[in-house]
Amino acid sequence: MTPDNQPSPCAERTAVLADEAATLALGGSLARGLQPALKIYLTGDLGAGKTTLVRGLLRALGYRGRVKSPTFTLVESYNVSSLYLYHFDFYRFANTDNWRDAGFVDEFGGPGVCLVEWPQRAGSALPMPDLTIDLQHAAQGGRHARLRAFSEQGRQCLQALNSPVPPDDESSPACTG
Ligand SMILES: Nc1ncnc2c1ncn2[C@@H]1O[C@H](COP(=O)(O)OP(=O)(O)OP(=O)(O)O)[C@@H](O)[C@H]1O
Ligand SMILES: [Mg+2]
Repeated sequence: MTPDNQPSPCAERTAVLADEAATLALGGSLARGLQPALKIYLTGDLGAGKTTLVRGLLRALGYRGRVKSPTFTLVESYNVSSLYLYHFDFYRFANTDNWRDAGFVDEFGGPGVCLVEWPQRAGSALPMPDLTIDLQHAAQGGRHARLRAFSEQGRQCLQALNSPVPPDDESSPACTG
């Protein structure tokens, strides 16, 4: 399912990211709320900062190696801070068949955290995300981030950011799962 045809989020927040350091910091803040099997889908144009955010997240977990963009490898795997993480990039997928042929069903069904760039390129085949992060270029050169939770686990991840997310406000459906 693509982020555009998901049901309503159960928690949401936005952030202004003035520079690359701010994108790295947002990724780092999210690291505090990660738990096994969490699925985070990252959308936004080319160069919007998706890989940068994942880099900040991995650095905050203690990963010291190079965080490469998986645009050509499709996936980069990490085992850090007692978590398995898969960083996918489906930019090169033309349709849902590509995702099925790539054979990532096990990764998406297991305990690893899945961070996915260009999830929309896999069509409707991907499982529902716990959290989506949409990054957009801002007029002043920075980025706007919109984070939306679609499960209780995703909401907890949002809560780990600096200012707390109000619990299930009246306009949002309750988080499940
Ligand atoms: N908040 C920000 N303000 C300005 N530049 C930023 C910001 N966040 C990231 N960048 C810069 O944007 C550039 C592209 O970032 P990145 O590679 O993470 O994008 P991406 O969304 O992963 O792109 P792609 O879709 O091609 O994989 C990098 O040079 C990075 O430093
Ligand atoms: Mg990228």
